[in-house]
Amino acid sequence: MLTHTSRRQQKYRSPISRRLRQVSPSGIRKFFDLIASMEGVISLGVGEPDYATPWHIREAAIYSLEKGYTMYTSNLGLPELRQELSRYLKDNNGLEYSPDVELLITVGVSEALDLAVRAILNPGDEVIMPNPCYVSYNSCVTLAGGTPIMVPTYEESNFEISADDIEARVTNKTKAILIGYPANPTGAVMSREKLLQIADVARRYNLLIISDEIYSQLVYGVEHTCFATLPEMKESTIFLNGFSKAYAMTGWRIGYAAANKEIIAAMTKIHQYTMLCAPIMGQVAAVEALKSGKDSVAEMVEDYNRRRLVMVKGLNDIGLHCFEPKGAFYAFPSIKSTGMTSEEFAERLLMEEKVAVVPGSAFGQCGEGYIRCCYATSLADIEEALSRMKRFVAKYQKVIGLP
Ligand SMILES: Cc1ncc(COP(=O)(O)O)c(C=O)c1O
Repeated sequence: MLTHTSRRQQKYRSPISRRLRQVSPSGIRKFFDLIASMEGVISLGVGEPDYATPWHIREAAIYSLEKGYTMYTSNLGLPELRQELSRYLKDNNGLEYSPDVELLITVGVSEALDLAVRAILNPGDEVIMPNPCYVSYNSCVTLAGGTPIMVPTYEESNFEISADDIEARVTNKTKAILIGYPANPTGAVMSREKLLQIADVARRYNLLIISDEIYSQLVYGVEHTCFATLPEMKESTIFLNGFSKAYAMTGWRIGYAAANKEIIAAMTKIHQYTMLCAPIMGQVAAVEALKSGKDSVAEMVEDYNRRRLVMVKGLNDIGLHCFEPKGAFYAFPSIKSTGMTSEEFAERLLMEEKVAVVPGSAFGQCGEGYIRCCYATSLADIEEALSRMKRFVAKYQKVIGLP
């Protein structure tokens, strides 16, 4: 044990916990902050819709404010929202979740993810996840005392995570598999067949699945498979989803978790002490989104699809080979032909041509050699960004002597 004297003699004691020091700040935020200090930048950087929330949803929230709905809600979330959500999941996914014990309304999927890993992990438990993946996955697991185990995914196999690769990494410390498809940053969608193979691994090794399906409604010409609908998977899946992306509601901060009642009770325990409840205005807006947001989502999806086609074709035309993303609103082209690292590419592109993209390396090692371009922005901006990128790529490909 340290005495007072030996404690005083210590030269430097970090005020920050060892666990937090293991985690780096998000590579996305870094670029976001840089862009905010510059003028004339076209941002393909931050992953959020360029639409405002559909008017009927905003109006429902405004009306509720007028009526004085400004208080806390139950920890689990507004009963009306949980009932509506339960109905929605039954109608759209054929899943039955009790609104009283199997659904928890959270402050975005961000909070739901944090609660999920904190609720299930003991120190040193391993969580298997794809690489590249959304920046929070790895950090949330580390902050919860777990160990992220990365499974490389490759463009050649459509950035899908393979069940064999997962199985090869299962140890007696493995607690869960964390997946998020449609994927950020690649736009990959997993086929039902491949998900069934993952379900088989989960079943054989008795693993939990955390499935972040925040982009489930943003798919183009393919079907999204909800993991919890796979045979025998509902009980062992923590299904996360939210309103930020499909309904253009990033600022309202509403997400949810659907899982068995033991897990929801555990997540609620953390939520009640740390967050108490999600904001009531957002919850009221979410009720309206579920009740009558379908047409607005369909319109936005149609528009994203138009932009996706322009972005992917444009990137390929300028020599940045781009895998066809079938979901979310990201293109993930290879920049290997320029000879730069993805961070160099993103920094120079921002400084020289004022186009902001996110380096693929921000999403893990396997993202090196790629950049993430978000196409949830106007067609005019996408076209201008592509023409600036064309000039930039031509300059550097010449410098390193590529055709
Ligand atoms: C895959 C993924 N999951 C979760 C989130 C966080 O979403 P929310 O706004 O619901 O917290 C994001 C945001 O970019 C995301 O891309």
